[in-house]
Order: sequence, then structure tokens, then C-alpha cells
Amino acid sequence: MSLLIRGGTVVNADYTTRADVLCDGGVIQAVGPDLEAPAGARVVDAGGALVMPGGIDPHTHMELPFMGTVASENFFTGTAAGLAGGNTLIIDFVIPQPQQSLLEAYEQWRRKADKACGDYTFHVAVTWWSDQVEEEMGVLAREHGVNSFKHFMAYKNAIMVEDDVLMQSFRRCLELGAMPTVHAENGEVVYLMQKALLEAGITGPEAHPLSRPAEVEGEAANRAISIAGMVGAPLYVVHVSCKEALEAIARARAAGQRVYGEVLAQHLVVDDSVYRNTDWAEAAAYVMSPPFRPKHHQDALWAGLVNGTAQTTATDHCCFCADQKAMGREDFTRIPNGTAGIEHRMSVLWSEGVRKGRLTPQEFVALTSTNTAQIFNLYPQRGRVAPGCDAALVVWDPNGTQTLSAKTHHQNVDFTVFEGMEVTGIPAVTVSDGKVVWENGQLHVEEGVGRYIPRPTFPVVFDAINIRNEVLRPRPVSRTPSHEVTP
Ligand code: URP
Ligand code: ZN
Ligand code: ZN
Repeated sequence: MSLLIRGGTVVNADYTTRADVLCDGGVIQAVGPDLEAPAGARVVDAGGALVMPGGIDPHTHMELPFMGTVASENFFTGTAAGLAGGNTLIIDFVIPQPQQSLLEAYEQWRRKADKACGDYTFHVAVTWWSDQVEEEMGVLAREHGVNSFKHFMAYKNAIMVEDDVLMQSFRRCLELGAMPTVHAENGEVVYLMQKALLEAGITGPEAHPLSRPAEVEGEAANRAISIAGMVGAPLYVVHVSCKEALEAIARARAAGQRVYGEVLAQHLVVDDSVYRNTDWAEAAAYVMSPPFRPKHHQDALWAGLVNGTAQTTATDHCCFCADQKAMGREDFTRIPNGTAGIEHRMSVLWSEGVRKGRLTPQEFVALTSTNTAQIFNLYPQRGRVAPGCDAALVVWDPNGTQTLSAKTHHQNVDFTVFEGMEVTGIPAVTVSDGKVVWENGQLHVEEGVGRYIPRPTFPVVFDAINIRNEVLRPRPVSRTPSHEVTP
């Protein structure tokens, strides 16, 4: 059945216009004034509302096995909550155990995601290095539509990788035309600081931010950027939470390096005072990495989103209920790290960003979908409202209000860091695959209809980067001896 969204204002990252939007076969067929409704079409009244590309959350962890437990949100509940929040695509992470085949882990995640009701795609983490890993990265990139690989510089003795792995994997990404990404925190330093805090008898959640100060993130961001620069690869830094990491990205960009930054909605509005709550469970609920920061970092993050240092917003949606957080009752290093956010990212960004004059509506679109689609090679299939693009949309009520709460949210977790926050700007209707899946505060979703969206590699863009690299300098860890490189 076709769908006509009538009377709204279409907002793309680069222009805004009053227009109707006609969808059929899961694709936008027409955008323009006074479109005719085909016989039998469903008509959605968008008068007074904005019609925007569906949000893309580039950083989620549904059903992630992590720190001795499994994240409580699965692919069905998580994509449903995403749709309720105006998101029509998530990029989740396949995280192989060290020594596990990347392909085997990818297949495991594909099976877990079969129940999704919203669309999804995957980054794959490189948690160890071998010829097999190198080979399987190629298979994933060429045959399975994986064009980004993640590297954890923290979580020592679990999924952390050292600089030698970063260098070899970044080089491999470059060769494949895939985007390397990093969780930037110095895991060795975190490990030592955790040990010292425990030895000093500081065992509660208040120790979590003390063990991972902003310098830990700044150092790792600088190091990853330097390694990417030496190899000649671009780099995407996930969940940038502090001024130090932003400055590292800004410096690299000013020097002509392609480095991208992602900011979480949570870090924009929550600060580190939450860890000083004397109620253990209340404070533990906020344990995530990087941790919440002193308030002044929030100004730097908002500025970074506006000045182009950071390009995307995400949530790192990784849910653990109170009984799971309680695993760390005697030892803060055992509190599973992660917080929820997918359902509220767009509203928080609109309310705190657009309503408070920090962002324009077009910047909001860029930061919630378009830039992610471009960086991860999904554009213009996603991130744009135009004929030929996927019918993955949100009809946004800029004046609608809501009080965010774990009592009313759709996320499968008993806590939200946004509890009690009053937002203005809410998704009125979400359209996925050309169908209305969220309307009047109700979900109309079906388990298993979410689709895996493959993302091809970027050979053309990366060829250009390679040409520049070879002209400018020989690449370390290249298979081509430098003396054979011909400019
Ligand atoms: O605390 C977090 N962020 N948990 C999820 C894993 C990660 O680091 O992204
Ligand atoms: Zn992380
Ligand atoms: Zn994460």
C-alpha cells in the first residue's frame, strides 16, 4: 500500500521546503507540493510537523554479552524502542571474543538480529590479530556489506587491543576501503588506576570516573589518530565525551586528516555529579565508559557538534538492569558498563539542541542521520528525504512534549539517565519500509520484519586517499616496500 505524508515541511540537511512525500514499495516516489493520493493510499496528516529522514543510531549494543552478563535489550525490543524514538536504523556491533572467528561472530549476530522489527547493520570489532582475522575482514567487507571495523583501546584482559593491532588493522581497513573506528581510552592506565582505587578501599561507583579521567580518553584519541595518520587511514572516534578528545580530533582535522567524532546524547546532558549519589544502585546505574564528565565538557561537545569537529550523535545503547549492575556491589570494576538511550536521543537533541538555539533543524538532521549515512556509505539511500531514497522517515512534532521516564519508555531496562527530563520535540509518526510503525504513542511492529542493510566499502574515496598517501609518504606496515612506491 502506498503512503502519502501530506502538508508537512521536509527538512533535509541541506534544504527545507513545504512538500508532501509519497512512498510506495518501501521507497520515496515523489516529494513536492500537492501530490495526489493514489487509490487506496494511506494518508498521514503532517500539518504543522516536519518530515525528516529517520534517525540512524550508529552505536548500539543489543543483547551484548559483556562483563559476565548479557545486555537486557534484544534486537526486537531495542529496534522497537528505536522506532518509538524516530530511529529507522541502528548500527550495532558484532564483538568476537579474542581468538574467535570474525565470520562466526558475524553469523551469531545475524541470527540474534533475525527478530528485529527495525532495520539494522553492523560494525565488526577486531579484538585480536592474525592472518585469519586479516583474511576474514576482507570476506566481511567484500561479501557481507561490512564497511567499518571497531577497536577497543580499553577493557584490558577482555576485548582491548594494543597499538600493534591498531596499526595492522587500520592498514587493512584502508586496503579494503573500510572505516576503522575506536573506543578511545587508555586501557592500561585505567587498569592501574582501578587497582589503586580498590587497594585504597574505594570500591563504589564513585571510583568509576576517578579511574577514567578525561586525560585517559584524550591520550588514547591522540594515539589512535597518530597511528591512523601514520598508516594514512581515516578514523572514526566513537563516544567522544571530553574536551581533550575533541581537541585531538580538531587538531587532526585542521592538519588535513580525515577524523570523525561521535557524541552521545547522554554525555551532552548528564554530568559526573551522578556518581556522588550515596545510594549505591542509583550511582551504579550511570556507570558507563567513558564516564559522565564534569559539566564544562558538555559545552565543548555542543560546540564540537556545531563547528564540525564531531559529525554524529549516538547512544551506545547498552542496557543493564539493577540486578545486573549489582554484580559490582563489592567492586566497581565489575559493574557492567552501559546505559540506555536509543528511544530518547532525537528528543533530547531537539529539545536541548534546536529548542535552546544551539542547533538549526537542518543541523539536527545532519547530526541524527545524514552525516552517519555519509560516513558509513549509506547515503542517499538513508539520511535524505528525496525520490529514490528508502521510505524511512520520521514526522516530527516540534512542539510536542513528553516527560522521559523508565516507567513509560519502551526500552527493556528499568532505568534511564534521562529520568524526569521534560522534552519538547517528539516523533509523531515513524515510517519504516514505507509503513507506519509508530503513531499516536503506539507501536505497530512485527518481530522479524527488520532488514539487514549491507554497506558497501568505499573504493573510490579510498583510492583517492591512497593516491594522496603514496604521493606524500610511504606507508609503514605496507605490503609494498616503500622504495617500490611510484608517485
Ligand atoms: O559503557 C559502555 N559504553 N558500554 C558498552 C561498551 C562500549 O564501550 O561501547
Ligand atoms: Zn565503547
Ligand atoms: Zn559501545
